[in-house]
Amino acid sequence: MTPLEGIRACVFDAYGTVFDFASAAARCPEVPQGKRSALTALWRDKQLQYTWLRSLQGQHADFWQLTQDALDFALESLDLRSPALRARLLDLYQTLQAFPEVADTLRQLRDAGFKTAILSNGTPSMLDGAVRASGLEGCFDAVLSAEAVKVFKTHPRVYAYALRQLDLQAGQVCFQSSNGWDAYAASAFGMRVVWCNRYGQRPERLPGAPDRVIGNLAELPPLLARVAT
Ligand code: LAC
Repeated sequence: MTPLEGIRACVFDAYGTVFDFASAAARCPEVPQGKRSALTALWRDKQLQYTWLRSLQGQHADFWQLTQDALDFALESLDLRSPALRARLLDLYQTLQAFPEVADTLRQLRDAGFKTAILSNGTPSMLDGAVRASGLEGCFDAVLSAEAVKVFKTHPRVYAYALRQLDLQAGQVCFQSSNGWDAYAASAFGMRVVWCNRYGQRPERLPGAPDRVIGNLAELPPLLARVAT
């Protein structure tokens, strides 16, 4: 396949794409082994549902609040309610681990002349915490939070905010997300999109179409034509 041309910046979704949200429950021995994956999945599903529902309702609350609300729902559903466990899991969520290939991928992209950025629903303080905990300080030109526009993806205002901050046109940005719905929405908005389909999701039946699909971010750099100097 021919490399994607004209890209100036690589913009990454955060949770599930750069940071492994499963690493919270995985590092919490107080969660019974047999309930870890159910907790991770339900916590994540509810967190995302709350972003879409609140955006539709026009009832914004920040992503940290939604993360806590979703955790409460998940802990109660799985009969795991405990203030100490709740606090421990929230602590761990603030220091999520990056996926193993992320640091090297970012280095390669920056060496090739691309700007790098995060565009996430996460609050600035959640994102700063995760960037620091995974040793990625200095690897991004910008860490952009949907909190600046008080609505969540897939609202076009979020993707437009990234363009304004980076001073680029949609076609000059390559957006990476492991969330199919986010990848399709960024494509429908006009960005070039590489869907990092870590979780083996099926294609969405939504507007947009990712330009490329990869299994992890190590496959990204060869897909992009170097920035002309
Ligand atoms: C984010 C979520 C959607 O980082 O993964 O925005």
